[in-house]
Amino acid sequence: MARVLLPDDEGIAQAAAILRAGGLVAFPTETVYGLGANAFDARAVAKVFAVKGRPHFDPVIVHVADPADAEKLWTEVPPLARKLMERFWPGPLTLVLPKREIVPDIATAGLPTVAVRMPSHPVALALIRAAGTPVAAPSANRFGRLSPTHHEAVVEQLGEAIAAVLAGGATPVGIESTVVSLVEDPPRVLRPGGTPIEALREVIPNVRVDPPRGPSASPGTLPRHYRPLTPLFLLEPGPAEGGEPLDRRRCGFLAYQKAWHGFAQVEILSEKGDLLEAAARFFALLRKLDRAGLAAIVAEPVPEESLGLAIMDRLRRASSGRACLDETRVWIIR
Ligand code: TXA
Ligand code: MG
Repeated sequence: MARVLLPDDEGIAQAAAILRAGGLVAFPTETVYGLGANAFDARAVAKVFAVKGRPHFDPVIVHVADPADAEKLWTEVPPLARKLMERFWPGPLTLVLPKREIVPDIATAGLPTVAVRMPSHPVALALIRAAGTPVAAPSANRFGRLSPTHHEAVVEQLGEAIAAVLAGGATPVGIESTVVSLVEDPPRVLRPGGTPIEALREVIPNVRVDPPRGPSASPGTLPRHYRPLTPLFLLEPGPAEGGEPLDRRRCGFLAYQKAWHGFAQVEILSEKGDLLEAAARFFALLRKLDRAGLAAIVAEPVPEESLGLAIMDRLRRASSGRACLDETRVWIIR
């Protein structure tokens, strides 16, 4: 069973020693918990895929504690990359650029590029510095499942399979980083996330956000990903014909601002309609509903702006179909 380490000097030193010895440690970042390995140790990175149960290798994000260390992983650093690092690092922005030889192929799933970010979470930064090496880390969940935003969620999913987790409590941003490819011109958002698109546009006015195809397509952009075990349906207008009726009292409801009557359990993302708060609570509330033994989870859409874009991206991938409501029931349209 994973050791739960306090994120003090001693816990961080122990976690860093595990990383240096080729082991895996889960750690908090400001977005979600990462499952970390020494990025230069191909065997350790391979273990990450085994533990996550990924059906194939996927490129992982390499985490650094200093922009200068990012530059050591890339062959070229265009002025735009420097501008983005200055403006958004440390923070939830991941940049994709051509990789140097020293980055093992397994970390990039054979791609000629590597995704790098400098997280802002003090425990993540302390761990990377203590390990003395960049840390490759995907989100610390089993493949396709909910990303953990609390160390207890990591223990629940991966406790049997990893050496240790640094206990940082709840993560403040709550949704994964925004991934931007700078190898395309104009640059492209591969995954919407914790850095709002509006802020990105201030630095890259012509940034593309349409879904990628081909070599730069991200697994985080698989149509089915981030799935709870309980089927989730997105509330959308449209006819209920051909739908399957479910008693509302057997369903949970993930609401944006206001509760709806008649559901077995309702969780509200943000009563004041703050999309940052909604993102921070998103995975934790979804996990709560997932554990409640419900027949289905109905999720209400949130406004598609700022972090609402990232939330809607995750909701669409989590969803098994459309839901509409009448007075007492939920209609499920798969
Ligand atoms: O906030 C986050 O980004 C978290 C924390 C732990 O940093 N990490 C995370 O990692 O979400 P992961 O592995 O779950 O997602 C990484 C995303 C995937 O969509 C992956 O396809 C994409 O980044 N990615 C990684 N390397 C890439 C590359 N070379 N080219 C294109 N996409 C890449
Ligand atoms: Mg992930």
